[in-house]
Amino acid sequence: MTIPDPTMTNLDPNWWRQAVVYQIYPRSFADSNGDGIGDIPGITSRVDYLKNLGINAVWLSPFYPSALADGGYDVDDYRDVDPKLGTLEDFDEMVSALHAVGIKVVVDIVPNHTSNRHVWFQAALKAAPGSPERARYVFRDGLGPNGDLPPADWESFFGGPAWRRVPDTAPGGHPKGGQWYLHMFAPEQPDLNWDNPEVREDFLKTLRFWSDRGVDGFRVDVASMLTKDLSANPLPSWAEIQDGTLWAPGRHPLWDRDEVFDVYHGWRQVFNEYDPPRTAVAEAFVPPDRTHKYATQEGLGQIFNFDLLQANYNAAAFRKIITSHLKFAAQTKSSNTWVLSNHDQVRHVSRYGLPNNPPGAREGHMGRQWDLHGGKNMSINAEQGLRRGRAAIMLLLALPGSTYLYQGEELGLPQVTGIPDHARQDPTFFTNPGVDVGRDGCRVPLPWQADAPAFGFGTSRGPRGVAKASSGGETTSHLPQPEYWGDFAVDVELADPDSTLRFYQKAIKLRQQLEAPEETLTWLDPDVELPGISAAAANDVLLFSRPPVADGSTWVCVSNFGTDPVPMPKGEVLLASGPLPNPGELPGETTAWLRR
Ligand code: BGC
Repeated sequence: MTIPDPTMTNLDPNWWRQAVVYQIYPRSFADSNGDGIGDIPGITSRVDYLKNLGINAVWLSPFYPSALADGGYDVDDYRDVDPKLGTLEDFDEMVSALHAVGIKVVVDIVPNHTSNRHVWFQAALKAAPGSPERARYVFRDGLGPNGDLPPADWESFFGGPAWRRVPDTAPGGHPKGGQWYLHMFAPEQPDLNWDNPEVREDFLKTLRFWSDRGVDGFRVDVASMLTKDLSANPLPSWAEIQDGTLWAPGRHPLWDRDEVFDVYHGWRQVFNEYDPPRTAVAEAFVPPDRTHKYATQEGLGQIFNFDLLQANYNAAAFRKIITSHLKFAAQTKSSNTWVLSNHDQVRHVSRYGLPNNPPGAREGHMGRQWDLHGGKNMSINAEQGLRRGRAAIMLLLALPGSTYLYQGEELGLPQVTGIPDHARQDPTFFTNPGVDVGRDGCRVPLPWQADAPAFGFGTSRGPRGVAKASSGGETTSHLPQPEYWGDFAVDVELADPDSTLRFYQKAIKLRQQLEAPEETLTWLDPDVELPGISAAAANDVLLFSRPPVADGSTWVCVSNFGTDPVPMPKGEVLLASGPLPNPGELPGETTAWLRR
């Protein structure tokens, strides 16, 4: 039997396929009680703003009880709201308010690890080696005669060793003489043991808990790492672990193992108990030929595509990624996900203001991109970054599939650089001193009002949050907001017809009118469509059309990645990402939508 949701206004089971999803990082969105921390009633108070933006769904980063060792991705209790952010009743009110205006709710689920304050981990610390309490996590004896060497030399993704020793629980045992547990992220995030049926059952309970409360979908954190194989003795070295070629696809000991899909097949059965079925999107950094496995309709259904987020602003790079991902999605009957920014990455308007491939930029697994945070020793061309950012998002919004936006990008917010060390929160800053400034620069609380305390983020009457965050006394913003934040405030941008906010509102609404249900596009040839264009300039142009809509009109998107103007293709220009000073011309680093 399927359980209908009375608060749901849109019962279309395919709502997610071409949705515009807005990521809320709750602690930095809106603060209803002036304690400097964004909260659930704060989100409810901004439902009109979200409605006017025109989005179809919100995705909430974790709002569960947490000591915030990793911004809430260290979860103490998966079935509750952090008291600092509100209550379950507040959550229900928020869901009803969002549903009432047709916005779906997606929540983050963090299954690879709990926090070290979770009741299970606390019980495991008190229990003996080999006990059922320890079997929910990955505990191992240490190496060496006294077991005081870690079971392997593995490194955590946040830097530092991935194994930590616990006290010996035997009577008279040494406080530091016990077993070791695995934590692939912070030490406060012990990895769960997904071979344990109890762990599997408990997550099904969590999925039902939130689905019963009207949650429409789940974003699955670190989706590729749940199942692991630690049976080798000795365990492989970290150098071997990092060399993916030593194992056949799906057989790596720590990530992207084929067994993980059994877990998600079980989740799908739970999703299908509801009407419409709950949805999911996997966060999984896996090789391109494995992504489709996470997006099958018998599994999670959709996977994040981070390739554009990691690409330089370059027409050929964008076209290659778009083409290959359209193919992947068709393989699984999934839809594409397009994204330029999130809570882990340098905000894209700042990224695009940096030179391509700046020194120090490293590619690869998540986390490596964080080196760019702060743009150390690099000057950011903010004007160019914003121009390119607007052009790129307009291109993404014209693509078939769903687009994920990150709070504040609709204001054109840049990455905040120069956060004082004492105010930093991200564990990556503390584990990589002098190397990685961490992700705080994209998590600074939003400016709502230029001329208000904490730029309207909270209700506090205290001083602005400028560099006050952890100085004690009166705080208004848990991360300090820079002085210039007011220039990007919502009230300022609403009053300016050319602002980035007004641009996002127009683009999102227009997309809904222009978009056909068919998830396809046709590439058009700039040499043919833009008479007189030079061969070099044509290489910088991406031009495509979407299938016609009911009135027979066709949506054409043209994006000029070069710096010089090119001819505008034929058709009625509906919107452009920047000014169009000369009729018949598309300026450099600008995207336009036309109707034919
Ligand atoms: C989240 C990060 C988090 C990590 C560990 C990532 O996928 O997006 O913010 O630090 O998982 O949970």
